[in-house]
Amino acid sequence: MDSKSATIIASAAYLPPKRVENSHFETYLNTSDSWIYERTGIKERRWAENDVKASDMGLIAAKEALKKAQIDPKEVDLILVATMTPDQPLPSTAAIIQSKLEGCRAPAMDISAACSGYLYGLSVAKAFIESGMYATILLIGCEKMTQVLDPEDRSTVILFGDGAGASVIKKGGSGLRIDRVVLGLDGNLAGSLCIPNGKKMQMSGQEIFKTAIQKGVEIIELLMEQEMLSMNDIRYILFHQANIRIMQNIQKRLLIPEEKVPTTIGYTANTSAASIPILLQSIPHEKNHRYMSVAFGAGFTYAGAVFTSL
Ligand code: UT7
Repeated sequence: MDSKSATIIASAAYLPPKRVENSHFETYLNTSDSWIYERTGIKERRWAENDVKASDMGLIAAKEALKKAQIDPKEVDLILVATMTPDQPLPSTAAIIQSKLEGCRAPAMDISAACSGYLYGLSVAKAFIESGMYATILLIGCEKMTQVLDPEDRSTVILFGDGAGASVIKKGGSGLRIDRVVLGLDGNLAGSLCIPNGKKMQMSGQEIFKTAIQKGVEIIELLMEQEMLSMNDIRYILFHQANIRIMQNIQKRLLIPEEKVPTTIGYTANTSAASIPILLQSIPHEKNHRYMSVAFGAGFTYAGAVFTSL
C-alpha cells in the first residue's frame, strides 16, 4: 500500500427531514412499536416527500462531499451512483445528477447491486483510480425506498428508509485509504428479495436474514485472513444497516466487541446503498486505525472492504 492507493478523502450524508416513527404503522397495520424495535432495532426512519427523487437526495450529499473535499465539480472524472431506486429507467440517476452538478462533464453510470451498491461502487472506483484511468471519482449511494415499498406489507414497509451518502475518492491523501474490497454474489437467491416489473418489493425475510449472517461472518473472516488482521487490530466494523439482530448475531459469532460496531439503524432504518456512507458520517474520524465494512443485499450480493484511516 502506498500513495497510489485510492482514498476516500471526504464523505457526506443527507437524510430527508420527515421522521416516521414506528407508531405510524400501528395506525393501519397489525404491528406494534415493540415488535418492530425488538425484531429490527428500528425506532424511526426518514421519508422523502412525494416530489423528491433519489437523484435529489444524492445531489445534496454529493455537493456537500465535494465542498468538504474542496473539489470543484469540473474536476470530477467519473460519477458512480449506487441505487436500487433510480428516478426512472432512463437516463441513469448518475446522468441526472451530473446534469445538476454545475460545470461537471464527467461520464456517469449507475451500479445496481442493491444494499451492497456502495461497496461495489468503491471497488470500481479503486480499480479506475489505481489503474491511472481517472484521478477523481464521486461515488453516491442514494435511495428513495418508499417508492418501491408496499405500504400494506408489514414485513417490508417497516424496514426501510430514504436517504443518501456520497464520497470523493482520489489517489493518496488523508482520509480512508481503501486497502481491499471483496465482492460476492449468490444468484440462486435472486428471487428472495426482488421488485418484479410493475410491482412493489417482495422479500423472503428469514432467508435474507440467515444468508446475511452467514455471508457477513465469511467476509469478515476472509478479510482478516487476507489483511492478516486480528479483531484487536480493527477499530470499527461498518455494517450495512439492515437489522440490529443481523449485526448482533455476527458480533456474537466472531466475538466482536460492541464498541467496534457503530449503528444508525435506530433512526435511519435500512437505506440500502446509502446506509454505509450515512454510517460513515455518524462516526468521528480517528487517524491510524483499520476499519472494515460489510454489506449484503438483494441478488444475493455481498461485499466487504478494509480501510486505513489516515
Ligand atoms: O438489506 C437486506 C434487506 N433485507 C433484510 O435485511 C431483511 C432481513 N430479515 C429480517 O430483518 C427479518 O426476517 C424480518 C424483520 C423481516 C422479520 O423478522 P423475523 O423475526 O424473521 O420474523 P418472521 O419472518 O419469522 O415472522 C414472524 C411473524 C410472522 O407471523 P406468523 O406467520 O408467525 O403468524 C410474520 O407474519 O411475525 C410476523 N410479522 C410481523 N408481525 C408484526 C412480520 N412482520 C411483522 C410486523 N409486525 N411488522
